[in-house]
Amino acid sequence: MEKNYRKMWESSFAKRTERLTGSVIRELLKITQCPDVISFAGGMPAPEFFPKREVEEACRHLIPTKGEVMLQYGATEGITELKEFLSRKMRKYGVPADPENILLTCGSQQALDLIGKVFINEGDRILISEPTYLGALQAWKLYGPEFITCKMDDDGVIIEDVEKSLKKGPVKFMYMLPNFHNPAGVTISLDRRKRLVELAEEYNTFIVEDDPYGELRYEGEHITPLIVLEKERVIYMSTFSKTLAPGFRLGWIVAPEFTLGKIIQAKQGADLHTGTFVQYIANDICQRGALKAHVEKLCYIYKERRDVMLQSLEEYFPKEAKWIHPKGGLFLWVTLPEDVDCTALFEMAKDNKVAFVPGFAFYPYEGGKNAMRLNFSNTTPDKIKEGIKRLGEMLKEKL
Ligand SMILES: Cc1ncc(COP(=O)(O)O)c(C=O)c1O
Repeated sequence: MEKNYRKMWESSFAKRTERLTGSVIRELLKITQCPDVISFAGGMPAPEFFPKREVEEACRHLIPTKGEVMLQYGATEGITELKEFLSRKMRKYGVPADPENILLTCGSQQALDLIGKVFINEGDRILISEPTYLGALQAWKLYGPEFITCKMDDDGVIIEDVEKSLKKGPVKFMYMLPNFHNPAGVTISLDRRKRLVELAEEYNTFIVEDDPYGELRYEGEHITPLIVLEKERVIYMSTFSKTLAPGFRLGWIVAPEFTLGKIIQAKQGADLHTGTFVQYIANDICQRGALKAHVEKLCYIYKERRDVMLQSLEEYFPKEAKWIHPKGGLFLWVTLPEDVDCTALFEMAKDNKVAFVPGFAFYPYEGGKNAMRLNFSNTTPDKIKEGIKRLGEMLKEKL
């Protein structure tokens, strides 16, 4: 009987769901939920620093006065007060965003999904870096694009590679992570950003600029966003997930008004609007200046964690391993000699109660076998040291 039901359901799935995968990685990462495992796997902020007091205060004083609007349906675009705050905040960085150009989304993951819905036809060529953010691949795979991958070095995506791919045929858009790339940790230099927007113009395409980490900079100067260099050919997105709390599920898109209109229509069908309650809470925290103070605190804490991870890698990892020095964000990308299989290593690490994400997860096709992504924000400095020591000892044994 049970078997028949299964067959009935499976034959009812839409054809496009055959493109949905992801269970391999989810299975792999189940281990990270065990409390005694030191996990460098997730992309999670440090929960001990969530702004709990600020959220509590916002609830206490907003509910008596704004309770009725906060708990009601709202406009698809999002609440005006928060869009105005974001517009002012982004304008400080030169981002030409009026409230009319902003759509509040359910995290930037929803922004990625909406972009897929609105722009991707089956077979469209989408230019991405290699490796790239896994969530974008998951969101877009459903629409059946062809991913064209370009390599990266310490200054971000390699322009010659981008140009070569553009020459081969039309590209629907280029997906770029300008700051502290997830997973690669690198930042695109200003020169390359300029070239990317020139290339977008030359090849008549556009850029999706995904910037969740830009504010988490621990050293060096802020670099001009792509949208500032060319506002007509860039859709920009960011999120409160890394600066306040991912549980808010609150992010935003900045796009030219006529483009945003179509994205808003797609969002209407998806969820009507982003939670009004959470928008008011986030707005209150922002308006009282608490976001800025909180980000400063996070930068201090995460910088220390990054430094401990870098020092521990120096101390415990074999000399054959290479890693980048991220100037911000949450991740370090480690590359090992070509014959090292990081998925097998992951299995070994499980027995030593330490976890990371094997590099293959960030590639749409083959690749990343000998690489790993390490997150440093979600683990205390003493555990970072211990976890890297365990990984380093395993690696030395293997090499
Ligand atoms: C590059 C990138 N884009 C988008 C997201 C999704 O973030 P959100 O929590 O806002 O949905 C993440 C989350 O880790 C990310 O790293």
